[in-house]
Amino acid sequence: MGNLKFAYWVPNVSGGLVVSKLPQQTDWSFEANKRYAQIAEDSNYDLALLQTRFFASYGAEYQLEAITLASALAAVTDRLQLISAVHPGLWHPAVYAKMLSTLDQISGGRAAVNVVSGWFKQEFTGFGEPWLEHDERYRRSEEFIRVLREFWTKEKAAFSGDFYKINDAPSKPKPVQGGNLPIFQGGNSTAAKQMAARVSDYYFMNGNTLEGFQKQINEVRELAQQEGREVKFAAHGFAIVRDSEEEAYQQLNDIVHAADDEAVEGFKQSVKEAGQSTQDRQGMWANSSYKDLVQYNDGFKTGLIGTAEQVANQIIELKKIGVDLILTAHFHYEQDLERFGKEVIPLVKEKEAKLKAEGVLA
Ligand SMILES: Cc1cc2nc3c(=O)[nH]c(=O)nc-3n(C[C@H](O)[C@H](O)[C@H](O)COP(=O)(O)O)c2cc1C
Repeated sequence: MGNLKFAYWVPNVSGGLVVSKLPQQTDWSFEANKRYAQIAEDSNYDLALLQTRFFASYGAEYQLEAITLASALAAVTDRLQLISAVHPGLWHPAVYAKMLSTLDQISGGRAAVNVVSGWFKQEFTGFGEPWLEHDERYRRSEEFIRVLREFWTKEKAAFSGDFYKINDAPSKPKPVQGGNLPIFQGGNSTAAKQMAARVSDYYFMNGNTLEGFQKQINEVRELAQQEGREVKFAAHGFAIVRDSEEEAYQQLNDIVHAADDEAVEGFKQSVKEAGQSTQDRQGMWANSSYKDLVQYNDGFKTGLIGTAEQVANQIIELKKIGVDLILTAHFHYEQDLERFGKEVIPLVKEKEAKLKAEGVLA
C-alpha cells in the first residue's frame, strides 16, 4: 500500500463548505482559489477537487464551473492534480473526453475526473434535460466512463450503449496520462458501489465513522475482487485543527449553531432523490442528522477535529482500515488549509513511516 495522499475541496461555490451563516474567510472567486491552490501546493497537498454545481443548493448561490476553473488553476500551479467533477446527462462524454485530454495537456498530466451521477433534480429539469430514475443514472455514468476510456486509449473510438453511440471517432491528442487518467466516483447506494467496482479507479466516500468507512471499503473491495479489479478509497472529512480540542469543538458548535436552517432544509429535501429513492434505501445522506447536513458531505462525522496530533492520529486510523486518500474541507480556507497542510500532513507522514518501519502498516 502506498503512502496516504491528500486532496482538498476547492471552494468554487459561495458559502464555502458549510451551510452556516457564521462569517468565514472563504471566497469562491478565481483570485481566491488561485491563492488557495498555491497555498495547498506549498503545504504538502497532492490533489484538489472541484465540485460541479449549477443551481444554488445548500446556500451555494454562486458557482464557478469545475473544469474551466481547473484549467485556469493548472496554469498557476506546478504539482497539484486537479479533479474536475462532471454530470453525465449534462455533458456528452466525447466532448468531455476532449476537455480532459486538453486539461491533461495544459497541466502536464495533472487532470483527473469525478463522475457524479446526481441527486439534484432541478438542475436537470431546469435545463430541460430528462431526470432519469436513480439506477438508470448510474447505468448512464458507467457508459460515460467507458466512453471516456475508449477515447483515451483507441485510435478511433467506437461504442454502442443504451445512452451513447460513438462511431469510429478520432481523438488527438490523447491525455498525457493516456488511459490512466484517474477516474473518481462517489455515492453510497448499491448501484454506486457496483459501478465503482466495475469501472472507477477511486471510490469517494462522504464523511463517516471508522466503522461506517470500514463497511463501505469491505463491500466495494469485495465487489471489485469479483470483477478482478482493485479500487482505491478516498475519505472525506471536514477538518478543524486548533491549539486545543476545546477550541476546535467550540468552532464546530459555532458553525452548527449558526446553521442556515432554510438552506439545510432545502438540501434535505433535494437529497431524497439520491440512494434513499431506491428499493433498499441505501445511499448518501440516507442516515444523516441535521447536524451532519450542515456540512453537506457529512464531513463532521469523520472526526478530523481537535489538535494537529489528534487529527493526525484519526487519519492514521483511516489508513489502517484501507483509506488511500484523505479529502479535506475547511472553514477559513486562507488559514485552515495551510495549517492542516503544514502541521497535520507532516505529522501523518512521520507516523506512517514509523508504523511501516515497525511492520504495523504495509
Ligand atoms: C467526495 C464526493 C464529491 C461529490 N461531488 C459532487 C459534486 O460535485 N456535485 C454533485 O452534484 N454531487 C457530488 N457528489 C455526489 C455523488 O456523486 C452522487 O451523486 C451522490 O452521492 C448520490 O449517491 P447515491 O445516490 O449513490 O447515494 C459527490 C460525492 C462525494 C462522496
